[in-house]
Amino acid sequence: MQRTPLIAGNWKMHTSLAEAKALAGGVVSACKGLTDREVMIAPPFTALAAVAEVVRGSQVRLAGQNVCWEEQGAFTGEIAPGMLRELGCSMAIIGHSERRQIFGESDALVNRRVAGALRFGITPVLCFGETLAEREAGEAMAVLERQVRAGLAGIDVADPSTMVLAYEPVWAIGTGKTATEEQAQEAHEFVRNLLCDMYEKSIARQMRILYGGSVNSGNVDALLAQPDIDGALVGGAALKAESFERIIHFRQ
Ligand code: PGA
Repeated sequence: MQRTPLIAGNWKMHTSLAEAKALAGGVVSACKGLTDREVMIAPPFTALAAVAEVVRGSQVRLAGQNVCWEEQGAFTGEIAPGMLRELGCSMAIIGHSERRQIFGESDALVNRRVAGALRFGITPVLCFGETLAEREAGEAMAVLERQVRAGLAGIDVADPSTMVLAYEPVWAIGTGKTATEEQAQEAHEFVRNLLCDMYEKSIARQMRILYGGSVNSGNVDALLAQPDIDGALVGGAALKAESFERIIHFRQ
């Protein structure tokens, strides 16, 4: 089953406007001539308009770091899917562990965001992953199952290219502690089987599952060599054009 790898950069709450434009320029250059993989960047909302100018005409896809499910209204602090579309975004990160842990976003809220994004033609990058305590208690797979089933509850996926998932063990995010290739593959295979249970197999086998959590230029090749790892969601190493460039150019 051929799945086009996706390398995604999550800039989190980093970059001034000038830094964002320079970094985006570096990513555009790094992508020149690439045809066998996709690249996405998610700058902070405040930099989206400026970065959109920089990536225009390139193959770099732009994403929001979150998205609301409503078209407009009294939702202070939220960004509507149409607002993202207007700025050239075709994707949005949803359910990142920082949203879940620091801002209390529940599985049900994440599910509303996924549904809202799809309704307005935004491809979700649905994040899920267990904490260290959950892993040590032997509950990792149960947590992944709960988060994936709840995040996708009631969601029909007709076109598998419009639904991306991202396994991000919380203990590996920003810690320099990457999951081993075996640990990551085990989780990805588990989720792949879960998707096969939830959707038509031909659809489930085409959905991309990214790995995230301390991905860097040194470990990307081994991670992406795993059969069910279809790309990377990169935080820290996406903030420097050189390291992100090496990740984009991972060797298959
Ligand atoms: P990290 O972040 O690469 O800095 O661990 C990944 C993420 O949170 O998406």
